[in-house]
Amino acid sequence: MRLANKVALVTGGSAGLGLAIAQRFGSEGAHVYITGRRKEALEAAKASIEGHVTAVTADATMSGDLDNLVEAIRQESGHLDVIVANAGSIERMNFGDVTEEHFGRTFDLNARGTLFTVQKALPLLRMGGSIVLLGSITAFKGDPGAGAYSAAKAAVRSYARTWAAEFGDRGLRVNVLSPGPIDTLIIDGQAEYFGQDPVALRAHMSTLVPMGRLGLPEEIANGALFLASDESSFMTGAELCIDGGMAQV
Ligand SMILES: NC(=O)c1ccc[n+]([C@@H]2O[C@H](COP(=O)([O-])OP(=O)(O)OC[C@H]3O[C@@H](n4cnc5c(N)ncnc54)[C@H](OP(=O)(O)O)[C@@H]3O)[C@@H](O)[C@H]2O)c1
Repeated sequence: MRLANKVALVTGGSAGLGLAIAQRFGSEGAHVYITGRRKEALEAAKASIEGHVTAVTADATMSGDLDNLVEAIRQESGHLDVIVANAGSIERMNFGDVTEEHFGRTFDLNARGTLFTVQKALPLLRMGGSIVLLGSITAFKGDPGAGAYSAAKAAVRSYARTWAAEFGDRGLRVNVLSPGPIDTLIIDGQAEYFGQDPVALRAHMSTLVPMGRLGLPEEIANGALFLASDESSFMTGAELCIDGGMAQV
């Protein structure tokens, strides 16, 4: 029970990595708040998480939703110990096809949404708290068709350095968890760009990973648990890559 008596927020906790992280945190004793835009998906996710779970419908790009989320946590729990800013998405596009709308959507969620999620939730974070930001290895490894997304994730990597320096004197830690390709619906969403069906795309992506497979959401949840818990108590401003070696060799 490495998160016993802790209160954790996981944005985008209704599916994929966020759900796996919320499930792991719940089984380690945390009271978990999960968010997402789709109420039904959130309710289904809630039913799959052990322990005390609160689901709050909130779009990470909407300031008013973030205010309501923080107020709901304040009223029910009064504080937070862990913030996992996980809500994010990729929309692949060739450089020549990039539009201002595509760029805006990508940065709105991955970069702007991450900043304001942390800014608004920060007053609730107690001394000793941990902030985990979901980055990506694409922030430092060239990935064709992912220019805006990779730049937004590079911003996320940068936030961790700045915020670790800014919040250290309050006893707060900030780290980035950067996955390689992990088997969630985010892979399916990229099939059209690659002109492959989702099964063929998974097989192709697996050939790019030294370990010869995609990662599992549970493997990312293990890393999130490490960063959220006291096991990483002397780690801040850092990046933990869980990528089967894809960006390491
Ligand atoms: N899977 C990978 O291979 C991979 C690799 C590197 C980095 N990542 C990063 O890991 C994070 C999670 O990815 P994933 O693979 O788990 O994605 P996913 O399977 O598509 O799940 C995304 C989750 O975020 C929620 N979400 C999407 N837009 C949102 C918004 N505007 N506000 C609030 N919630 C929102 C979704 O619920 P709703 O749709 O209901 O809102 C869902 O719960 C992202 O930041 C992603 O960039 C993933």
